[in-house]
Amino acid sequence: MAELDGKVAIVTGAGRGLGREEAIDLAANGARVVINEIDRPEAKQAAEQTVDDIKAAGGEATLVLGDCASTDDAQRLFETTIKTYGDMNIMVNNAGFVRDKTIFSMDDEEFDSVVRVHLRGHFVNMRNATAYWRGKAKSGEQVYGRLISTSSEAAIYGSAGQPNYAAAKAGIVAMTMGAAQLMIKYGITCNVIMPRAATDMTMQGPTAAMFQAPDSGFHQFDPANVAPLVTYLSSPRSSHIAGEVFIAWGNQVSVLKRPEPLDPHVNPDGESRWTLDGLDRSLSTYFDENHVPVRDGYSLPIG
Ligand SMILES: NC(=O)c1ccc[n+]([C@@H]2O[C@H](COP(=O)([O-])OP(=O)(O)OC[C@H]3O[C@@H](n4cnc5c(N)ncnc54)[C@H](O)[C@@H]3O)[C@@H](O)[C@H]2O)c1
Repeated sequence: MAELDGKVAIVTGAGRGLGREEAIDLAANGARVVINEIDRPEAKQAAEQTVDDIKAAGGEATLVLGDCASTDDAQRLFETTIKTYGDMNIMVNNAGFVRDKTIFSMDDEEFDSVVRVHLRGHFVNMRNATAYWRGKAKSGEQVYGRLISTSSEAAIYGSAGQPNYAAAKAGIVAMTMGAAQLMIKYGITCNVIMPRAATDMTMQGPTAAMFQAPDSGFHQFDPANVAPLVTYLSSPRSSHIAGEVFIAWGNQVSVLKRPEPLDPHVNPDGESRWTLDGLDRSLSTYFDENHVPVRDGYSLPIG
């Protein structure tokens, strides 16, 4: 019996790149997969190819075109999944695009569209999935749910040329943590991946050189390298893993340490509100010894 036999998965933005590889791997492991992709000629063709490739390999897949961030399209995606396969167990939020600019040059549309596709795109599908699983659990039915969100290292390191994207990806981590806290009591896990891969998103502009395939040997940035982690987090094996963030690429998976504050600085003047002098005495001593300069200029905009 395959790892994900009987399970039903949705993958957004699965026409190409990471989403395509994740969908193929989920299907290869027995899941029936609903491929979502934006309804544009080229994207539609790519998504049909993903479905055809899954079927040719003996898997089951179906295509639901639509905008991942539209409430109506997400509803249709969810309802079609239930109608087609009778259940929904694995929600992989993946779709998105970038519009890179520095903070001082970015216009409203560039900010709003990127926050919308990533953060709202995760929100509407996460809402549908969690509401469905919670409803099932509350009515005493057996429920199997796995939610995988796609963030980026830009969320933790910042990305000088991607303020819209970094903000959206940080929001995705926060939103997924909250969902993980709510859903674990139903045995449902929610986790986040921060991938690195050579895709249309990264093979243009300054990252292209970094993600090049080698002339021979293992291609560290083949998007298919990330897929096994998504399959693992979708599987019964990972039932005890929730609220985690993973950086994944090549043959590496790093678990992100949960952030924790260092020992607090306490007002040297005792139990009273800070004065500027007190703050300066306390913090300047600390930063004299622990100064980490902020990176100057553009950090590598990793997807
Ligand atoms: N490639 C990397 O190194 C990297 C790094 C960090 C995070 N990510 C994240 O991984 C995810 C996949 O990116 P990728 O690198 O495969 O890029 P990609 O551009 O190859 O794939 C993104 C897919 O999403 C689809 N899409 C875009 N807008 C959509 C919408 N509104 N509705 C439905 N589908 C839509 C695109 O058509 C495309 O097929 C993204 O969330 C991206 O931010 C990628």
